[in-house]
Formats: sequence, C-alpha cells, structure tokens
Amino acid sequence: MTHEVAVVPGDGIGREVVPAAVDVLATVDAPIEFVHAEAGDETKAEQGVALPEETRETVADADATLFGAAGETAADVILPLRSVVGSYANVRPVCAYPGTDARAPETDLAFVRENTEGVYSGIESELTDGVRTLTRVVTAAASKAIADFGFEYADTNGYEQVTVAHKANVMRETDGLFLDIVEDVAEQRGAAYDTALMDALAMELVMQPEAYGVVICPNLAGDVLSDLAAGLVGGLGLLPSANIGDENALFEPVHGTAPTIAGDGVANPAATILSAALLLEHIGYESDAQRVREAVEGVLAEGPRTPDLGGTASTAMVRDAVVDRLS
Ligand code: NAI
Ligand code: MG
Repeated sequence: MTHEVAVVPGDGIGREVVPAAVDVLATVDAPIEFVHAEAGDETKAEQGVALPEETRETVADADATLFGAAGETAADVILPLRSVVGSYANVRPVCAYPGTDARAPETDLAFVRENTEGVYSGIESELTDGVRTLTRVVTAAASKAIADFGFEYADTNGYEQVTVAHKANVMRETDGLFLDIVEDVAEQRGAAYDTALMDALAMELVMQPEAYGVVICPNLAGDVLSDLAAGLVGGLGLLPSANIGDENALFEPVHGTAPTIAGDGVANPAATILSAALLLEHIGYESDAQRVREAVEGVLAEGPRTPDLGGTASTAMVRDAVVDRLS
C-alpha cells in the first residue's frame, strides 16, 4: 500500500532541509507518494494567504505531512495545520548524540506535550482599559488523551521513567483535574509515574537530565521545558517533533526558518531527517525508521557536520552522507 505524504517546506531553511529529508525518504523501502504544497511568508506574498485552502486539503487528505518552518506567518500556518491533522499530542524526543558536543551527553528524553488547550486556548480578552485576561482551559478528555498517549509512548519506546509536569499547587482546579485524570489512566494501566512541579523540574532537567525519560506536560510547560532540554543536546538543528492525531499526523523540526543562514545551503538537515524517521515509524515502517536514525547518528558521530556543530559541510553533503549509509 502506497502512503501519501504531504510535503510543505514553508520558508527559509525549510526549503533546504525538507528536500534533503525527502531525498532520504526516497531511498528507504517504504512506498511513499509525495504531494507538494505551499505555505508561509512567500505564499502570503504571492497569494494573499499564508495557508491556502488547497494546502489544508492536501494535508487533510494525506496519510502524514512533513513540514519545514514558516517565518513571520508561523502562527498562521502551523497552529491551523496542527488542528487540520487533529493533533492532540506533540512529541519531542531530545537525545544527545555522540559527536555533537552535547552539554549533557547522557540525555535521552521525550516530551509528550498536550497540544490543544491550556494557556494556548486562544481565549483572551480586554476586561477593562489596562486589564487583559486569558482563560486556561483544561478538559478531562484532552488530559486523558495525552496521558494515554504518554504512557503508551513510554512502553513502546522502552522508557522506564514517566514524569508528569504540573503546577497544581497554584492552579488547583485546572492542573488538579489534569493530575486526577493522569492518576486514573496510570491506575488502569498499572503504570508507575512521578509528578514534578514544572518550575522545579526545569532546574532538575538541567542538573540531571539522565534521570528522566518521558515527561508528560500541559501545553505551555511542554513548549518551554522541551526548548530548555534542546539546549542540553547541541541545539535546534538536531530536534525532531511529531504532532499526532487519531487519523493523521504532521512531522516537523522544532526549529524555525533560521533567516540568517537561509539560502547559504549550510542548514543542518538532521532535525528534519529525524522528523522523517518519526513519520516512517508512524506509517508503520519501524525498521526503515531505525535505519534512518542510525544513518543520521553515524553521520553526526563521524561527519560530515554542518557549521552549527562546528563543521564546514553543506546541507547537501550531510544529506549525501546519510543517503550513502542507507544504500
Ligand atoms: P530559528 O529556529 O529559526 O533559529 C534559532 C537559531 O538556531 C538561529 O541561530 C538559527 O540559525 C539556528 N538554527 C535553527 N535551525 C537550524 C538548523 N537546521 N541548522 C543550523 N542552525 C539552525 O528560530 P528564530 O530565529 O527564533 O525564528 C526565525 C523565524 O522562524 C521566525 O520568523 C519565527 O517565526 C520562525 N519560526 C517558525 C517555527 C515553525 O514554523 N514551526 C518555529 C520557530 C520559529
Ligand atoms: Mg516553542
């Protein structure tokens, strides 16, 4: 069965790293048909909208999407696309690889972030002049979905430690509900977990990241803590992510369009190639995914490396090295 993958490079280095990852996907066994679509700043300049209806439809109809990054229009592109795929879970694996000068070489974490609500509910208003409010939405349904996903992810990926980030001591109603639901889910599965106040966890992640495995987070906490952890392993050029829905999913590097290096052909394609590996896993090609990951790890360990990792290689040289290891 051929799988349809929507390819949305977006802007800036998205237009360099996404084609590199597509070249890698084309060398593995998984039967994939690519459908290209446009979104982002350039699209807005040309068509008046950052996310054309045609792109929404292409993403909705595909089995999965590989997205690069959008520039100033990022919020107008990626937030709607995450909802087009019905994504309730954002997964961000943060692993240290040999050869990358990671500050914390033992790091092997995966953030499982609630992707639909919390303080990103979008419910903001001006109460009176000089007073604005934001509604923090937490539902039992979304809490259950992220808890189920997080514990399942830990089992599938061999993580023994599950930590649940919260601030229920202050946000008693909302994070109180979140923790109650997590407890129910864990009890039903017979799963063990720890809870951690999200501010203290930020410190602990820096002090001893190796003590953590899967970290299940409300939306904002997951956004912040996963970026913090990125700093432990050599930066944004290495971090993939998955936006998972029940029937569709979108995969993207955590980084943006990197305007200062865009067009130079030196962006690190590793984050996007690793995102493509997550995509392969999602559509059922675990062994291809594993081969791609190992090829990237091999190239990171032995070179060639792009300038963000202290090397002098181009995006194309890294892509070719990964493809060589696969063929
Ligand atoms: P950024 O991730 O684009 O860049 C941050 C730093 O990391 C820069 O020094 C950049 O050169 C470097 N970097 C990032 N990816 C790299 C790679 N693959 N290889 C080598 N170096 C890399 O974040 P920034 O500068 O905050 O945002 C730039 C633009 O990207 C903004 O317009 C922002 O809106 C957009 N953005 C879009 C996102 C998305 O579409 N999901 C996510 C984050 C930012
Ligand atoms: Mg962020």
